Amino acid sequence: MSKITVIGAGNVGATCANVMVQKELASEIVLLDIKEGVAEGKALDMMQTATLLGFDTRVIGVTSDYSKTADSDVVVITSGIPRKPGMTREDLIGINAGIVKDVAQNVLKFSPNAIIVVISNPMDTMTYLALKTTGLPKNRIIGMGGILDSSRFKCYLSLALNAPASDIQGVVIGGHGDTTMIPLARFATYNGVPVTSILDSETTNKVVADTMVGGATLTKFLGTSAWYAPGAAGAALVEAIIRDEKKVYPCCVALDGEYGQKDICIGVPVVIGKTGWEKVVDFKLNAEEQAAFNKSAEAVRSMNSVLKDMNLI
Ligand code: LAC
Repeated sequence: MSKITVIGAGNVGATCANVMVQKELASEIVLLDIKEGVAEGKALDMMQTATLLGFDTRVIGVTSDYSKTADSDVVVITSGIPRKPGMTREDLIGINAGIVKDVAQNVLKFSPNAIIVVISNPMDTMTYLALKTTGLPKNRIIGMGGILDSSRFKCYLSLALNAPASDIQGVVIGGHGDTTMIPLARFATYNGVPVTSILDSETTNKVVADTMVGGATLTKFLGTSAWYAPGAAGAALVEAIIRDEKKVYPCCVALDGEYGQKDICIGVPVVIGKTGWEKVVDFKLNAEEQAAFNKSAEAVRSMNSVLKDMNLI
């Protein structure tokens, strides 16, 4: 049976672990945090739901002891600070980049074969940093953003259509930023029917705009970043890896010419299975969508250049 590690026992990391535990994705899930006792406490709390919720996964919490994470099949990195109201995800780079670099290196020392899922923000740049500093094959580094953004897109569509979210298909590509993500309205359907043929353009545009600031809206309400949907989205990605599902999910991956981009990690639809992301799926963007994607890539690339300024890559 598999072993999964989650680095960072904050709201997102703990929620992600909790969802994975309830899905019994592994025989063992390790939660690691640098704050003394936090991971231990949350892990024990989760373990005490085992007989209530019916799972046998063992949850182990540790303070900074990477040796306990050894031989994990998948490691989810949520470390770093979350945003406060008014902050963009990009504002976090100064603090989070150094943390994510250290974490990725520590993880690899003990789990050299792990697939790494990056959730820390600014996620596209943190994924690129993990790729550059670990030297892992590109298929084993996956940034989680598009699954979350797509689930928000489908949520807002379901509210606009007054339809169950499970009947909605929708994909968000591009960067995981308030201005860089691209909800692909043209491809969104309600049971196969294009939503653009049901909703007027004003409503569709509002759904797209609400999706783009989906995280910021919650940060305003909560005073910190959201966690239920980010945690569940991380767990869905890990599930697709662990169960070798071959699901198509938009994820942040290293492109080498696909969608007209290279030397960048950014969100595109990929097939997810036990070896990580297995291939990029080409959605055949129209000129307008491709232009938006190129603009998004430019913004991500300019954020990535800060890593060089910080001497991290
Ligand atoms: C969000 C953060 C986790 O979108 O990126 O809520």
